[in-house]
Amino acid sequence: MREATQRALVARLLAHIEHGTTDRAPAERTVAADTYAGAERLEHERRTVLRRRPVVLAHSSQLAAAGDFVTDRVDGRPLLAVRGADGGVRAFLNVCRHRGAQLVEAEDGTAAKGFSCRTHAWRYGLDGALAHVPDRDRCFSPAALEGRDLLPVPVVERYGFVWLAPRPSGPGPLADPLGGRLADLDEDWSAFRFADDTLWATDRLVGRFNWKLGVEGFLEVYHFRSLHPDMQKYVFVPEVALFDRLGEHVRIVAPKREIRELRDVPPEQRLLRPHATLVYFVFPSTFVFVEKRHVTTLRIQPLTDESSEVRVLHTARRDGLLRPDALRTNIDLFSKVLAEDVAAAESVQRGLASAPQELLFGRNEAGLHYFRDSLAQAAEGEDRAPVDGREGGVPEREGAGE
Ligand code: FES
Ligand SMILES: [Fe+2]
Repeated sequence: MREATQRALVARLLAHIEHGTTDRAPAERTVAADTYAGAERLEHERRTVLRRRPVVLAHSSQLAAAGDFVTDRVDGRPLLAVRGADGGVRAFLNVCRHRGAQLVEAEDGTAAKGFSCRTHAWRYGLDGALAHVPDRDRCFSPAALEGRDLLPVPVVERYGFVWLAPRPSGPGPLADPLGGRLADLDEDWSAFRFADDTLWATDRLVGRFNWKLGVEGFLEVYHFRSLHPDMQKYVFVPEVALFDRLGEHVRIVAPKREIRELRDVPPEQRLLRPHATLVYFVFPSTFVFVEKRHVTTLRIQPLTDESSEVRVLHTARRDGLLRPDALRTNIDLFSKVLAEDVAAAESVQRGLASAPQELLFGRNEAGLHYFRDSLAQAAEGEDRAPVDGREGGVPEREGAGE
C-alpha cells in the first residue's frame, strides 16, 4: 500500500475517532432469509460467480521449487497445483486420465519426476503431459492416448499466492482471465511483498452454515465487542472501521488502540500497517488479514447450501519469524476468534431454518452491503455466459514466478 494511501486512511480513522463516527452505508437494507438457502440457489451462485472468480489455493512459499505441489478440493473437485521446471505454476484436476483414479493422495510434497498413478502407473510430467504408459504398445493405439494429458484448471500466481477458478476443464480460451479479477487490488498489494513471506501454519474447519453467512461474519466489526471480548479488550478501537470498495472487492481497516498515538506524529510519517488490521475481502470468498508481522488468509467455500469449509493459511514476515512467541500468541487468538465466528454463523443458520424472516444490515455494516451488491452484479452479468466444457480450461500463465 502506497504511503500516500496510508496517510489518507490514518486521517480518516483519526477523524472518526475524534468525532465518534464510522464509515456508513447510505441506508439500512433488508435481506430475505431464503437468499441463504436452497441447493438450486447454490448451484446458480456456483455457475455464475464461484467458479468464475479467483479463490486462494496456496501461498507461493508452498511451491518454492520445481516439482513442489499442493492438492486440495475446491468446489467439490480434487485439484493439484505444481510448480513446473520453467518456474510457472500450473493446476490440474487431480484425476488420472486412464480410468479416473485420484492421481496424488498427499496434501503436499515434491515430485521432481512428475506424478505416477498408483493404479496402473501412468506417469505425467510437471506440465501435465502424459509421459509414460506401461506396456504402451500392447495396450493402446497412439490415437487412443491422444488428448490424455491432465485436465488443466485456470490458475494464476499473483501477490505471493496461487489463485484458481474451480471451473470445469476443456479446450478453448478463457473469457475472463483470473489476473484481471485481482487487478483492483494491485495498488494496495503490489507494495506488500506477500511473496517474501513464509507459510507458518494452516488450519481447516467445517461448519453448518451457508457460505454467505461465513463471508458476512468477516465483513463488519459491529460484533467485535460482544462476540470477541478478548480481542476487543486488548486490541481494537470499538465500533470504528473504514470500508472501501476496490472493484468487486472490499477493504476494511480496523484501527488498533495505539493508533491514537499517531495524532502526535507528523502526517508524512504516519504509517498504517502497524496500527490497524487491514482486511481485504477478495470477492467472492477469500479474506486476507494483513497484520503487523504476519498475514492470515481465509477461504470460505460451500460444501452444501447449509455447510461450508474454512481453509486458513498463516504466513509470516521475516521480522515475524524472529518473534515466534508473539506470532504464536497472535495466531492462537485468531483461532479462538475464528471459532467464535463459526459458532455465530451456525447460530444464524439454525435461526434462519427455524424462523425464516428478513435480516437487517445496519448502516455501519457497509461491507455486507458491498458484498451483496457485488454478488448481485456478478450473477446478473454472467447469468447468460456459458460455463461449460467449451469455455474453461487453458491455464492462465500470466504472472508465473511473481
Ligand atoms: S487409473 Fe491411473 S493408471 Fe489406471
Ligand atoms: Fe469475528
